[in-house]
Amino acid sequence: MSVVKSSVLTLAMLAAAPAFSAVTIDVDPAKPGAVINKNVYGQFAEHLGTGIYEGMWVGPGSKIPNVRGWRKDVVGALKELRVPLVRWPGGCFADEYHWKEGIGPRNKRPVKVNTNWGGVEESNAVGTHEFFDLAEMLGADTYVSGNLGTGSPQEMSEWIEYMTSDSKSTLAELRRKNGRAKPFKVDFFGVGNESWGCGGNMTPEYYVNLYNNYETFLKAPPQYRPKIVASGGHSTNKWTDVLSGGLKGRTVGISYHYYTIPTGNWDVKGAATGFPEAQWMSTLANALKIDTSIKENVAALEKNDPEKKISLLIDEWGTWYDVEKGTNAGFLFQQNTLRDAVVAALHFNIFHAHADRVTMTNIAQMVNVLQAMILTDKDQMLLTPTYHAYKMYVPFQDATSLPVALRDNVEYKVGATSIPGISASAARAKDGKLYLAIVNTNPNEASDVALNVAGQNVSGVSGQVLTAAAMDAHNTFKHKDAIKPAPFAAKAVDGKLSLKIPAKAVVVVAVDK
Ligand code: AHR
Repeated sequence: MSVVKSSVLTLAMLAAAPAFSAVTIDVDPAKPGAVINKNVYGQFAEHLGTGIYEGMWVGPGSKIPNVRGWRKDVVGALKELRVPLVRWPGGCFADEYHWKEGIGPRNKRPVKVNTNWGGVEESNAVGTHEFFDLAEMLGADTYVSGNLGTGSPQEMSEWIEYMTSDSKSTLAELRRKNGRAKPFKVDFFGVGNESWGCGGNMTPEYYVNLYNNYETFLKAPPQYRPKIVASGGHSTNKWTDVLSGGLKGRTVGISYHYYTIPTGNWDVKGAATGFPEAQWMSTLANALKIDTSIKENVAALEKNDPEKKISLLIDEWGTWYDVEKGTNAGFLFQQNTLRDAVVAALHFNIFHAHADRVTMTNIAQMVNVLQAMILTDKDQMLLTPTYHAYKMYVPFQDATSLPVALRDNVEYKVGATSIPGISASAARAKDGKLYLAIVNTNPNEASDVALNVAGQNVSGVSGQVLTAAAMDAHNTFKHKDAIKPAPFAAKAVDGKLSLKIPAKAVVVVAVDK
């Protein structure tokens, strides 16, 4: 593991204005694109491993400082991330979740078995009220996944009524008795999850009929009505095609899942740390392929929904490695390195380019599971490189995307595989400033980049860089700040701005006039 000396790095970069530029980034502020919906930076929290229990929820009686059961340290760190949206309770868990088991006095809730994830006991301590308490503390929108697989239209419609009714119905009164006077704000409601697999092994044609059946009964007062999401596919655009053809007017979005696996082989996925450069490359190359997947899905939407009423919601994505040795294989706990931050940033740049159709994404998952923001160990907590990437990109939430063109991009090559050396994205943020994100995918070589903003003099840039000496640089409970962002700045010389982007780095800067 390597430690970046931030002051040394910053000085080195400030001094390093190259005489020539290998790559030119052209930004055109006069041709604004779609707004990057803040929910593109959404999170996913499933009842899986220590993702919720231990990682976030410790219960009000815990010695670990908490607010009504939610860990203060973790909630505080997530608040700083400005988490815009949280998806809950699954994942595969959602299609075996019965909401009535998660309300009322916690000591009376039934204990179940989490059959999807490790076969461990599910106490139901975190239910509807606890989830909304967390979301409200975070100031986040909510995305609740309903049980299509083992539920019924009645169970689903009653959950909607329980959460959203402002009447004096028995269910609304039960909600009040359980401590919540006014309706909960359910922003999105998903009908099932991965219905092609863990959610019921259905065909898309069968799902469309079931969705129509369930959706008919999801009634709520207009001001509390959630946007209803259809659960889509993975790997091809078949589900998006069938669903967008069959669900006109009945959904605001179709979900899509895309996981990045270094080897592409689910049986031996590759390690989270200590990997060879070939797996740095294969991981990044596989991550970049999401662009093709999005284009294929968007093509299906363009065909069936040219009015752009249906969004593509990538409500699960991220890296998936072999679990850490010594941990429960069903808990999907993995370390998180600089490679994950680079993967996240590459995704963000791609999502921005599709901002008109991709209006929500949810990384899997928020804490302790897969590509997490935060890892915990008892009362300890650390922020991962992925957390830092999310924080650096906060200005892109609800910013207006700007077209970016790369001239003379360099190539990063390992064996027969090659990918672009530089990835970039630009946007006009809500604070009025122009922000630029640049990723150098090459773990060995820095890249000289010239910035050219049409119709604007650029005097300099300032922001942050995330990099390290090792590809698998990561934080541990002993060295929590082994990798963290450092300041990054550069000034124009003779009206020309050149940036030296370190090897394997994520840079986000505001552009100064
Ligand atoms: O994120 C982990 C699991 O991956 C989810 O439960 C499921 O939807 C997907 O297969």
